[in-house]
Amino acid sequence: MAKRKRLKLKEPFISIVRILGVILAIILAVFLFYRYEIHTIKKLGYSEKASQFILFNFKKSYVKSVHYSDTLNAAFESESYNEKYLKYYAQIDYYKGDLLISDINSLLEKKYSVSEINVILAHGSLEDVRDFAKRDKVVYLDEYFDYPFARIRLYDRYLAYSDETGENAYNTIVYVNLDIDKEEYNEPYLINKFSIDMLVNKHFSLTKNFVPNNLVTISSEDSKNEEIKLNGEAYKAFKQMKSDMNKEGLDIYINEGYRSYSEQEELCDYYRNLYGDNYVSKYVALPGFSEHQTGLAIDISSTSVKTFANSKEFRWMIDNSYKYGFILRYDSMFIEETQYNSEPWHYRYVGTEISNYIHEHYMSYEEYYAVNLFK
Ligand code: DAL
Ligand code: ZN
Repeated sequence: MAKRKRLKLKEPFISIVRILGVILAIILAVFLFYRYEIHTIKKLGYSEKASQFILFNFKKSYVKSVHYSDTLNAAFESESYNEKYLKYYAQIDYYKGDLLISDINSLLEKKYSVSEINVILAHGSLEDVRDFAKRDKVVYLDEYFDYPFARIRLYDRYLAYSDETGENAYNTIVYVNLDIDKEEYNEPYLINKFSIDMLVNKHFSLTKNFVPNNLVTISSEDSKNEEIKLNGEAYKAFKQMKSDMNKEGLDIYINEGYRSYSEQEELCDYYRNLYGDNYVSKYVALPGFSEHQTGLAIDISSTSVKTFANSKEFRWMIDNSYKYGFILRYDSMFIEETQYNSEPWHYRYVGTEISNYIHEHYMSYEEYYAVNLFK
């Protein structure tokens, strides 16, 4: 039988292989331990980056003692992390984005409490918070910021307006959100995007080139033969409303619907020449400031009586128009907010969700906007 020749390794070589084997085994064990630790931290909700920070900075037992917090996670991920504020981060429950930790640090530096910081963060954009963090500490936050629609960027204007007018906090916030503390038509908020709930008034204006979505020409029987355009959804709702009204022996037609910027300009000039500036300021919007340019507003007449306010149709509209998504836009009760005199003939389509709400709470569209839609 042939004898197999055994490979004989030299002693020093065997030792090196052994040592390398041991080193590799240690590295593998450390790596597995590291991954296991990261895994247990990540299971709490923390990101890979935050988990690494937590592990290498010996914060594991701390994060296990507090519940997971987005703000804490962001703090551990952030370059601006400040050990001094560790115990506060987890209590700040409102977290918005990458760069906020430095702003939270600035607010803590100014000695705002955690609950005040939560209030500040809940009432402004990232930019608003940044600006607010730069200013001197504000003493009375509570008065305004119990209302979710108050904005920290408007804090000084709230104070100035309530000082000047003596209005309560709610009215102050509503009026300032609507820019009513500013001069009419001066530096309006510019809108160029169509939406059914858009607000257009003396402070919220449309650009010259703004044309609404989905304009349709209404039928001659609804307009007494005038060529009138309207947003298609608003027109559909109008037809249903008119048809239901007809069943009760009443009838309306549309005098005015969509008006372009230049048509509004002509109308303004016409009334200014006829009745003067004072009339225009109470009844006619300057070009760009009319909600007729949205295609969502209608002026209506009754077929029975000349003065619409005296008609049965007006009464019917007051009682029923909200069911179809329309609101009486310029109500005599809301002149302060709308800044126009009462117009019993002018209705605005806002959709039934909003019209039902407004009917139930009896408020101007301005107030609805300031409370529910203001950003
Ligand atoms: N009459 C309303 C205010 C308008 O001109 O749009
Ligand atoms: Zn009108």
